[in-house]
Amino acid sequence: MKLCVIAGDGIGQEVVPQAVRVLRQLLPALQTVSAEAGWTTFLQQGQALPAATLAAARGCDAVIFGAVSSPAYAVAGYRSPIVQLRRELGCHANVRPTLSLPGCGARDGVNLLIVRENTEDLYVGEEQSDGETATAIKRITRSASRRVAETAFRLAAAGGRQRVTIVHKANIMPLTDGLFRDAAREVAAAYPQIAVDEMLVDTAALKLAQAPQAFDVLLAPNLYGDILSDLAAAFGGGLGVAASLNLGAQHAIAEPVHGSAPDIAGRGIANPVASLLSLALLLRHVWARPTLAATLEAAVRRTLADGIATPDLGGQATTGSFCDAVLARLG
Ligand code: NAI
Ligand code: MG
Repeated sequence: MKLCVIAGDGIGQEVVPQAVRVLRQLLPALQTVSAEAGWTTFLQQGQALPAATLAAARGCDAVIFGAVSSPAYAVAGYRSPIVQLRRELGCHANVRPTLSLPGCGARDGVNLLIVRENTEDLYVGEEQSDGETATAIKRITRSASRRVAETAFRLAAAGGRQRVTIVHKANIMPLTDGLFRDAAREVAAAYPQIAVDEMLVDTAALKLAQAPQAFDVLLAPNLYGDILSDLAAAFGGGLGVAASLNLGAQHAIAEPVHGSAPDIAGRGIANPVASLLSLALLLRHVWARPTLAATLEAAVRRTLADGIATPDLGGQATTGSFCDAVLARLG
């Protein structure tokens, strides 16, 4: 197994090496290749995702991508490296579980999975404005909708899950969201063991806030999935523990959901749980090592249950001492 390690900016440089240290204990034969991306890389090399980084990522089985800082204003030549990387590697699905973890202020009994289309919808970036009227293209294709639905149902079946809820707003956008819904239902027909229902996105937001425990798998187009998965993350204990996996036919990117956290960067106190759990997703869904994934998840859970936590969760652990505690609980 060959992992391309892109730590990125800010706390990415702190959490990723520590999480990879834990992964090495589980996979002694793991090979790693480090590569650069992000704002610092842009300032040094004029590109946020240098060609060498893309080549390194293509040459590995999978990538762990920490976080990057993005300017809040337009900078000539700068493009978000993670958006570019997901596209270049054909990672069409974004997979985000939310689990109730101990000691994180999480709601009890939550165990849901959001599978989000990762390549189209309003995120195609085709906007126009004449100063008076601004227009954005929302593009939905049958093929991309089917592809992400295949991923959602495959993961649901593999994980013994019961139900997939298709999220849309087809009452207002019958052609675009209707196509997404219909394509997902076509795919669902091949999985008779999994119940399927559908929900308007606004209703889904309300129900998620009221009773996140009631959901199993949510399948959504890009924009709704982006928003609902951040909402769901609040019930699992917040950004420090929110994990994700970008999945494609050839490549995968494990990616903690959080950003570069400039407010705490450089102090060694960032929470590595999001990165650790993202690596567990990689072990389970890409490297077909579910037992190792469960071992890692259980060790993280036990560490938190023992009251060990970084300051964002009210504890005093450092990034490194938290990972030491996880390592001590792997066996
Ligand atoms: P952020 O996720 O970096 O931080 C939000 C808040 O959560 C901060 O108070 C931070 O200290 C805390 N936090 C986040 N992750 C944490 C962790 N692992 N442990 C402890 N505390 C943690 O979001 P923010 O502040 O909006 O953005 C900062 C920079 O990150 C910006 O340049 C933004 O563009 C970038 N960003 C990058 C993302 C990515 O690489 N995928 C995603 C989100 C933001
Ligand atoms: Mg987001």
